[in-house]
Amino acid sequence: MIDDRTEFVGRNILITGGLGFIGSHLAIKLVELGAHVTLVDAMVPDYGGNLFNIEPVKDKVIVNFCDIRDANAMNYLVKGKDYIFHLAGQVCHVMSLTNPFPDIDINIKGTAIVMEACKRHNPEAKVIYTGTRGQYGSSVKLPVSEDAPTNPKGIYEISNLTAEKIIKVYCDVHGIDCVLLRLTNTYGPRAQMKHSRYGVVNWFVRLAIDDETIKVFGDGQILRDFLFVDDCVEALLMSAVCQPAVGKIFNVGIDKPTKIVELAETIVRVAGSGRWEFAPFTPERKAQEPGDFYSDISKIRRVVGWQPKTSLEEGLRRTIEYYRRYKDNYW
Ligand SMILES: NC(=O)c1ccc[n+]([C@@H]2O[C@H](COP(=O)([O-])OP(=O)(O)OC[C@H]3O[C@@H](n4cnc5c(N)ncnc54)[C@H](O)[C@@H]3O)[C@@H](O)[C@H]2O)c1
Repeated sequence: MIDDRTEFVGRNILITGGLGFIGSHLAIKLVELGAHVTLVDAMVPDYGGNLFNIEPVKDKVIVNFCDIRDANAMNYLVKGKDYIFHLAGQVCHVMSLTNPFPDIDINIKGTAIVMEACKRHNPEAKVIYTGTRGQYGSSVKLPVSEDAPTNPKGIYEISNLTAEKIIKVYCDVHGIDCVLLRLTNTYGPRAQMKHSRYGVVNWFVRLAIDDETIKVFGDGQILRDFLFVDDCVEALLMSAVCQPAVGKIFNVGIDKPTKIVELAETIVRVAGSGRWEFAPFTPERKAQEPGDFYSDISKIRRVVGWQPKTSLEEGLRRTIEYYRRYKDNYW
């Protein structure tokens, strides 16, 4: 829990990608904490932007439908903001195999535009960036700590690593405070559920709710850590207000891994519908599969004091409950 709940009262916040999965949860929480919240989202088709995501706070946030690559818009939007949570991005690693340009354009150039806007118009802002555990590529040692080598296996992951390095340069050279987070697989309510190209947990949840068959690729023994979105949001907020976190990279994950087959079994059990079976990897998935991964979170625990609280079972129960109730807005 954020200890100092007053820190965000009256603060001006910008969330890029604010109508997406994680961004909308963050917006809802920040409104609850008394912040003035502005969202930027281009509602890119197939990504997670969904107006229904902010239904509980729709009259309490400002929404700007614009692209982070629009430098004029960003120059204006960063002004007067205390915190900028930069979450907008191309988020599909499978897509990055066939078309690398959205990653390069949105994640790399778009990030440079956001940071340049900060440099020119609001160098006092603090920027919190959400990169991915995919930046590490295949694990050399488990759990994976922040000083592990970064050998990304796709353009999506390369673009996230590059964005992280761009932000770090603006921090080191231009004095713009930042916190650089590397998120593991995050799941929960408000994620896009229309296709299977990202978010394995959410896709399995959809299949179970629809009483369909979940395909577990290979032998299902691959290890992953799955983070519930409320815990993720807490990590974002706690890192944002933690002064010793400035300029640092932190893993945001769970150090208790789950096999993919256990994930499928748990979803089917908690949902009380659907089933699972083994299936061969598709060639694209095989090419990008980095093998076992789970996060070493000792650094964020030590410096920020954050740790995840939600068990997989509890997170899945809340996720399934949400989508059963609001299915029409996501399917
Ligand atoms: N969800 C995860 O498991 C996970 C894991 C690691 C990292 N991340 C990172 O966290 C961030 C948020 O992810 P998410 O799961 O909420 O994704 P999401 O797709 O739900 O949200 C991203 C939002 O960004 C918007 N967007 C994309 N390009 C834009 C642009 N050029 N201008 C303005 N808006 C744009 C989309 O419309 C979407 O609403 C992303 O940067 C993602 O790479 C997510």
